[in-house]
Amino acid sequence: MQYRLATVEDIPAVEALQKRYHVSTISDEDRPDGFVTTLFTPEQFQSLIEDEQGLSIAVDEGKVVGYAMAASWDYWSAWPLFRHMIGDLPTIEYLGEKLSTENSYQYGPICIDKAYRGTKVLPNLFEFSRRSMMDRYPIMVTFINQINPRSLKAHVDKLKIDIVKPFVFNNNNYYALAYDMTVKTAGSTL
Ligand SMILES: CC(C)(COP(=O)(O)OP(=O)(O)OC[C@H]1O[C@@H](n2cnc3c(N)ncnc32)[C@H](O)[C@@H]1OP(=O)(O)O)[C@@H](O)C(=O)NCCC(=O)NCCS
Repeated sequence: MQYRLATVEDIPAVEALQKRYHVSTISDEDRPDGFVTTLFTPEQFQSLIEDEQGLSIAVDEGKVVGYAMAASWDYWSAWPLFRHMIGDLPTIEYLGEKLSTENSYQYGPICIDKAYRGTKVLPNLFEFSRRSMMDRYPIMVTFINQINPRSLKAHVDKLKIDIVKPFVFNNNNYYALAYDMTVKTAGSTL
């Protein structure tokens, strides 16, 4: 398994994975194991790759089997949910600091091909993404829909990411989570 930053050539493979597990296109069979809600256009993928160096992928024998996004709040401000989170940052204290767009970035969504779930891909992909951002930011912030229990368990129990605040947006209940970027990911073999 190879972990690396995506290039624009990887966009079609990442888009295919996104489509399979996006809330609007996922099959009823796959839905109970979680879904992603943020939808990226090809231009948004390109900017994530070129302007943010923020698209980490897991590649098995040439096939993209997982991706994890990470970017500055400036990048995410195109989506209403993230604008809401940006407004909320100063109300959250983590590691003794008030969160801001300068001391934190947003990680996620992450998506792993069904055949590779329950393996080291989760901790290793997260660890690769963490290493690619750790020199830029001391704190990672993310959010999880409360109706995605698999993702919650994966992030809170396995990756040891802290829940910092519940919040409601557009009638959906979420948790905001945060992580100390100096800590190596639990369970990672990288
Ligand atoms: C979220 C995701 C990245 C997690 O990676 P993963 O490899 O599946 O995670 P793991 O299997 O190691 O850990 C998930 C845990 O939840 C458990 N679980 C599975 N289904 C569950 C459910 N419906 N409710 C609660 N826990 C559940 C698993 O058994 C596992 O725990 P265990 O290892 O103690 O048995 C992956 O499931 C995924 O890509 N899902 C689709 C997209 C998605 O939801 N992305 C996250 C958006 S925030």
